[in-house]
Formats: sequence, C-alpha cells, structure tokens
Amino acid sequence: MNISMLDLAAEQRELSGELEAAIKGVLASGHFILGPQGAAFENEIAAWLGVGHAVAVASGTDALHLALRAAGVGPGDEVVTPAFTFIATAQAISYCGARPVFADIDPGTFNLDPSSLARVLTPRTRAVIAVHLYGQCADMGSIAAVCEQRGLTLIEDCAQAIGADWQGRRAGAWGALGCFSFYPTKNLGAYGDAGLITTGDAKLAETLRVLRHHGSRVAYRHEMIGYNSRMDELQAAILRVKLRRLEAWNAARRGHAEHYRRLLAGSTLVLPSEHGRGSHAYHQFTLRSARRDAMREALTRAGIASAIYYPIPLHHQPVYEREHGGLSLPVSEEAARTVFAVPVYPQLTADRLERVCEVLLTA
Ligand SMILES: Cc1ncc(COP(=O)(O)O)c(C=O)c1O
Repeated sequence: MNISMLDLAAEQRELSGELEAAIKGVLASGHFILGPQGAAFENEIAAWLGVGHAVAVASGTDALHLALRAAGVGPGDEVVTPAFTFIATAQAISYCGARPVFADIDPGTFNLDPSSLARVLTPRTRAVIAVHLYGQCADMGSIAAVCEQRGLTLIEDCAQAIGADWQGRRAGAWGALGCFSFYPTKNLGAYGDAGLITTGDAKLAETLRVLRHHGSRVAYRHEMIGYNSRMDELQAAILRVKLRRLEAWNAARRGHAEHYRRLLAGSTLVLPSEHGRGSHAYHQFTLRSARRDAMREALTRAGIASAIYYPIPLHHQPVYEREHGGLSLPVSEEAARTVFAVPVYPQLTADRLERVCEVLLTA
C-alpha cells in the first residue's frame, strides 16, 4: 500500500460538483481579477477568523512582504523571526531592505522562544514575525507582551496554522497583521498560488489594498510603489468552497494526531508537544528521532512518504550564511537534524495510519 503525504485527488472527488459549479460561475461572469468572488471570500474568511479585515493577495510570500511594507518596515530596520521556518518568512524581510534577525525556538513546540526573542532585540528592531509552525500557535501571550512593551509591530506567519487558536483567539487575530498562504498543500489550499493578510486596523487594510494593486486607489493614479499581487477570482471561488470544509478537515487532522499518539506512545520517537492553550491545526505531524534517516529509509522501502521541514535552519542557508552563519541557535540546529513529518492529511484512512506506525515501530 503506497501512502503519500497528501491526497489532493481524494479531496477533489469529495468536492467535485461544488468546485465545478464555482469554476463555471467565474468563467460565465467574465470577471477574473478583483471581483465579487474575492470580495465574498475576504468577508467570509474575516468572519470565520474573527478579524476586522482580510485582504486577498497572490501568495503567502506576498502577504508577508506587503504586511511588512504596510507596517513601514524598510532599510535600517531589523525584524526578528525564528531561524526554524520556511525561507519565505525571512525573504519577505529582505525584500523590504530590512535585516532579518534570527532567534531560536522552543524545543517542544518548534515555535519562537520568547526568551530568545528578548535577547536579540536592539534599538533598530521594528517588528517581529511569529511563525505558527506545523499548525500550532506560537506563545502569543508572551510574544505580544514583548511587542507591546517595546512598541514593535507583531506580524503572524499563519501559513501553516489556519484555524489554530491561542486561548480561543485564532491565528491571524493576535498580531497587527496576520499572513496566510493558500499554496495547494496547505490546510486550506487553492489550485494555484494565493494568500491573504488579516488586520484589525482599517487604515492598514486600506494600505494593503493599495499596495496589492500597483499602489493605486483610483484607476491609473499611483500614490506609492505597489505590486501586482491580487488573488484571482478562480482561486477565490475555489477557496470559498473549501473554506466550508476546513473546520471538519482540521478536526480530522487532530483525530489522526491523537491516533498517532496512541500508537507511538512508549516508542523512542519524540512526539510533537501541544502547548495546551488552544487547538492545533496539524498542518504537519512532526516527529523527532536521532535515527531519522533510518526511519525514513524504512518508510520509503514500505512505500510511505515522509518529509523534512526543514533540513537547514535559516542562518545556515547559503543565502544568509555569510551574514548570519556564526550564530549559535542550538534548538533550531538540533530540530533541523532530527525532525521528520509523516502523513496527516484529512482523508488519511485508519489502516494507512496504522501501517505508518507499524513500519516506524519496527524500523
Ligand atoms: C511558514 C511559511 N511561511 C510562508 C510561506 C509562503 O507561502 P507561499 O508559498 O504561498 O508563498 C509558507 C509556505 O509555502 C510557509 O510554510
């Protein structure tokens, strides 16, 4: 039995009638950019997340970039982010001409460690990007308190954590700005690139709308250097269909995580820890093992996919190594050496999950 990391074909079978109707509706409308689907999606997701405003953009990377621009981040500024995340988080800082400053993570949750954050702040620090890695919120209580005390803009990278919450408030509703990705493999995935920014601030939302549309509010009048970064109507229509399923899909992911915990309890594998302050969206179920390579080889031999998110911490990425390579961030470095993710997608069946565990327990 072959087991993949994700089964988008199964998801499509589940939704085919609704998706086809939604796509046909857009084709018939002749409206493809900045139309009624995008506006409806923004309203629906803002209500679902519990935020005042949602601005749909072309990707999660653009969401981070535009959020930083809207917050006024530019040359001479420093922005703190964990070293253990996808490259896009740091790249967005570099796009603005600002300097990424890498902090270490908590060994249990893999998220930004508030004490490491406090140690890297300088008078040049302007903003913090807290990443909710693998689907679980970072410690928003402590991180928001540090940002408030120091007058720093808090930006959430919610790319992997749509639907997760910290103390009942959803990811994307804590910071001044929340950034989402709808890359096809995400818990809420488009059929192409798409992203979104949330904010409670009407002025920031307005700036983001101008930034995503060539710096223009009125046709052919450009008041700032903006971008072509709009979510298209087809993606918005598809996402509206899928948003209605997201609650159930995230619950299925949590159910699989529980099942893994039961079957893998007592093994030498380190299971992902939950902070207990809110629900996890289980974008990934990430294990740790000193024997990671042997474990993954056994899975591959059995036809089971696994993946490493991420094998190289950002301070050791070739693009950042020259400036940041001398940093010591031991928890991020250890995570990069030992983590691996196993399938946890909503349509994963119990027999497949049990097979993954059987192979892991005998590897
Ligand atoms: C943590 C994180 N940040 C940012 C991104 C960038 O999103 P996108 O691929 O939509 O540009 C991703 C996903 O790809 C991600 O996982």
